[in-house]
Order: sequence, then C-alpha cells, then structure tokens
Amino acid sequence: MDRNLELMLKEQKTAFYIFDSAVLKKRIMHLRTRLPERLELCYAVKANPFITKEIENETERFEICSPGEYEICKALGIDSRKMVISGIYKTPEVIEGLVSDKDFCGIFTAESVRQYRLLCELSEKYGRKLKVLPRLTNDSQFGIDPEELENIIRERDSHPMIEIIGVQFFSGTQKTSLKKFRRELEMLDSFLEKLKSEFSFEAGELEYGTGFPVSYFRNESLDEDALLEGFSELINGLGFKGRIILEIGRSIAASCGKYYTHIVDIKSNKGINYALIDGGMHHLVYYGQQMAMKQPFLSVIGKDSIIPDKLWTVCGSLCSMNDIVVKQLPLPEIEVGDVLCFENAGAYCMTEGISLLLSRDLPAVYIIKENGELYRVRRTFETLALNMPKYERMD
Ligand SMILES: Cc1ncc(COP(=O)(O)O)c(C=O)c1O
Repeated sequence: MDRNLELMLKEQKTAFYIFDSAVLKKRIMHLRTRLPERLELCYAVKANPFITKEIENETERFEICSPGEYEICKALGIDSRKMVISGIYKTPEVIEGLVSDKDFCGIFTAESVRQYRLLCELSEKYGRKLKVLPRLTNDSQFGIDPEELENIIRERDSHPMIEIIGVQFFSGTQKTSLKKFRRELEMLDSFLEKLKSEFSFEAGELEYGTGFPVSYFRNESLDEDALLEGFSELINGLGFKGRIILEIGRSIAASCGKYYTHIVDIKSNKGINYALIDGGMHHLVYYGQQMAMKQPFLSVIGKDSIIPDKLWTVCGSLCSMNDIVVKQLPLPEIEVGDVLCFENAGAYCMTEGISLLLSRDLPAVYIIKENGELYRVRRTFETLALNMPKYERMD
C-alpha cells in the first residue's frame, strides 16, 4: 500500500478525503490543451475551497461567492486582483468593507440592479474606481434581465467611478449538450454585439460559467474530448473578440479527489447484501446519483485484483432510509474493516451533503503535494456542538 495512504489510514478511524495536487494541476493543463489558447480560467472556489491554494498560479482568477469564501481566499494569501466577488446575495456590509479596503483590488459582479446601485454608491462614497461585471440572467433568479442590463450600459456615463469591464453568465452545471452551448454562445455573442452597436459599449470580456460535466458513473457515455472540441469550434466562431474567461468548478476539481470510508458492518436482509460504512451521503454527493442506482468509480483497498463475487448495497451511517450510496454493486469478498475508495470526489462531494443530521463528525481532509508530501488540512470536525442546545436567557 502507498505510504501516504498507510499514514492516513493509521490516523483515521472514520472517513476522510484526499486531494492530489499533481492530478489537479494536470487536469488544468489538460483543459488548457483542449481549449483555444485565448481562453482564460477562473476557478469557482465553491467546488472545493481546500484546493484553492494549490492552483494559486494555475488559473487567472478565482470566483468567490460568499463572505466565507472570501475569508478563505484572503487567509490563503490569494492576490485580490485575481478575485471576482460573485454571488446572488452580497452582504452590503461585506461589500462596503471590500470597497473601503485599499488593499482589495478585485472585481465585483452585479446580480441585480440593486447590487449595481450599491456598488455605484460605494464607489462614490469611497472615491474608488470599481471593476464590475453585471451578470446576465439565464431566465432564473440569477443575474439581471437583458433590458435592465442594457439600461445599466446606456446610463454608464452617470457613474464614472464604475468601470463595466464586460458581462458574466452562468446557466447551470454538468452540461453535456453541445447544442446548449451553441444556443448560449450565440445568445451571448449577439447580446454583446447589441451592446456594441446600440450603446457603443465594447465589452472587454465575457466571464462564462460553462458548467462542464464530469463523468461520475460507470456505463455513462460522456465523450469529453468531443465535447471540448465542439465547444472550441463554437468559441472560434464567435464574433466577440474580447477576453473570455471560463468560470469552472466541477470540471477542474472533481478528478483530484478521493473519499475513503471503512466498512463497519455487513449483513444480509431478506436476500440483499448490505455493507454499512462509517461515512455516507452526508460526505459523498455525486451529481445525478438519484436513488443510488448508478455506480460510481470505486475500489476496495488491497482487493483490486479479486473478481467480484456478490452484489452489495452500500449504506451510510445516517439512520435514514435515503442513506444509500450505491445499490447492486459488484464487490469481491469484503469484511468489516475493509476500506472503500470512491473516485472523482474532488468537487462539491464534501460540501453538498446534509452534514448536521445525527451530529456525526465531518471527515478529515488531506492534500498530497506534487512532491508527494502529505498534509492534513482539516482534522476530523465534530458537529456535535452545532446541534447541542445551549440555553441563553434573552432579557
Ligand atoms: C456563477 C457560477 N459560476 C461558476 C460555477 C461553477 O460551476 P461548475 O462547478 O459546474 O463548473 C457556479 C456553480 O454553481 C456558479 O454559480
């Protein structure tokens, strides 16, 4: 067994994640080689905040969606010029704090006319020129209606302290259809062209959240190379010649992560074999894993070469009927104490679970550096305190 894995298994009785920096950097290089050279990358920190520092110099920007994400990036020493402060609700106090902070030189998105006005007011109050990316809606609660965004552009001269550097757009994650990319890019291209021809506004950039997909399950037919090739052709056909920055989370982060969990009980109930693990759906959320019917890529440590002999339903420790991680999974002979390793656990898996049910611990997190050094970046975290009532009399 790999020495790092041995170290972690020795330390951890319960589940843990590991993020591999070399795999992560290779993944970014892979995306860059498959995409047109003019495209830049912005890492969406929400996909996995733990890996942000590892790619400090690998992406041009970081999309930051909450005060918490900002604090993480700040603590990690991320250059504020690389930060895009995004998010549907921007706490006014936090935004004011950033605008008034002379050391902060990042970009702000505007998700609504109200957010845009707040930025206008604050830029004047503090006499600071602000770079702003209004977000165009994708017909959802996010972003600004096209007509309202046009009004912002039309009246831009009345806010000389605001520099509208371009437009942001994101419409969803795990997008596999080239047709959808075509529709979106054509829409964005003609919108940017309209801003130019009707309002003499030449957008400097388009920050585009592509929602590139990840292949999470066996027997899934995602041809990523073909998708990226088709996407590249669409980019090459655009009339828009400004900067294009792709805002990506999942597709950058997923492959660098693994999730390890121990089998803690085994039983057969009415002919169905159950393997109970010390983790579960509160730690491991795969997009599209409805009813646990799909089979993620996973292995039993040390038993790779053994031919599966039975089907297993792998269940977590949440005392919920829903806490089934995989159904009908072919596995070799397993026993209590065996460790399952789930692949592609680098994006959202560890943040989208229902972490507080049953007051169970959150797993430790490790990072393996490119040189093989192993770091623990979070110890096992007890959630008990969050569910423990503490009576404080209100007067
Ligand atoms: C505005 C925005 N940009 C980028 C992303 C990242 O999306 P993905 O992880 O699918 O690349 C998200 C995800 O929710 C988002 O809301």
